[in-house]
Amino acid sequence: MSERKFSVWKGTPEGGKLHDYSIEVDKGMVVLDVVHEIQKLHDSNLAARWNCKAGKCGSCSVEINGKPKLGCMTRLNEYGEDETITIRPIKTFPIIKDLVTDVSWNYEQNKKIAPFKPRERDADGNHRFMQRDVDRVQEFRKCIECYLCQNVCHVLRDHEKKNKFVGPRFMLRLASLEMHPLDTENRIEDIKKEYGSGMCNITRCCTDVCPEHIQITDNAIIPLKERVVDEYYDPFMKLYNKIFKKSKLRIYIIKSYLVTLR
Ligand code: SF4
Ligand code: SF4
Ligand code: FES
Repeated sequence: MSERKFSVWKGTPEGGKLHDYSIEVDKGMVVLDVVHEIQKLHDSNLAARWNCKAGKCGSCSVEINGKPKLGCMTRLNEYGEDETITIRPIKTFPIIKDLVTDVSWNYEQNKKIAPFKPRERDADGNHRFMQRDVDRVQEFRKCIECYLCQNVCHVLRDHEKKNKFVGPRFMLRLASLEMHPLDTENRIEDIKKEYGSGMCNITRCCTDVCPEHIQITDNAIIPLKERVVDEYYDPFMKLYNKIFKKSKLRIYIIKSYLVTLR
């Protein structure tokens, strides 16, 4: 056991400040353990959100020494013994109390996205698709909705632009639907106009903080931007889409291609 210094932000929407604590810590402790120690021994009013303590529910997102992280997955030994560890709420969303922020804006973005619309089953009642198409969207399913990516996205931090872009988490969800081999919904127009793909300038800050190590920018956002470019600015694809877009002929061609590969 050893004594370490922590500085924790406490406050309300009207304002707040950092409070200093000296806590006895043990080997292997994570930042969320320290928050629990403070609640138990020093300040039972300290508000913090958590649920699984296993990096799977995404609710303990905070900023630790200025970096957005999951409190339950951040070990104290990542920091120097004499370093004060500062814990603040994530910055992009409004404060409710202390370390708890109101992330409901994200749920509103989620509701805007048209649901999965699978194509009809084959004559034998099965759905067929290529394994590589499944593999490609599998990575996106790892998202735990911690909103750390939303928190660091400079477009969302700029409140004037906030309602023009759904943010990296929802670009990821759109990619998982748009690239799904069974989905028939035409999403490209909305990805450009409604969800604001053009606002992202691929700085990759979202990818850097993702605790699930999802390649948000390279595997989701850039391919969606490429599809927007194909649809709107490539003359050949424009013509192709005009003739075949969502038509039964296009679906027939894709199905025939899949049958030839079987
Ligand atoms: S890459 Fe795009 S979505 Fe990700 S943080 Fe940068 S601007 Fe935001
Ligand atoms: S994409 Fe990563 S950082 Fe963003 S919400 Fe999902 S798990 Fe969190
Ligand atoms: S408590 Fe669930 S991810 Fe940290």
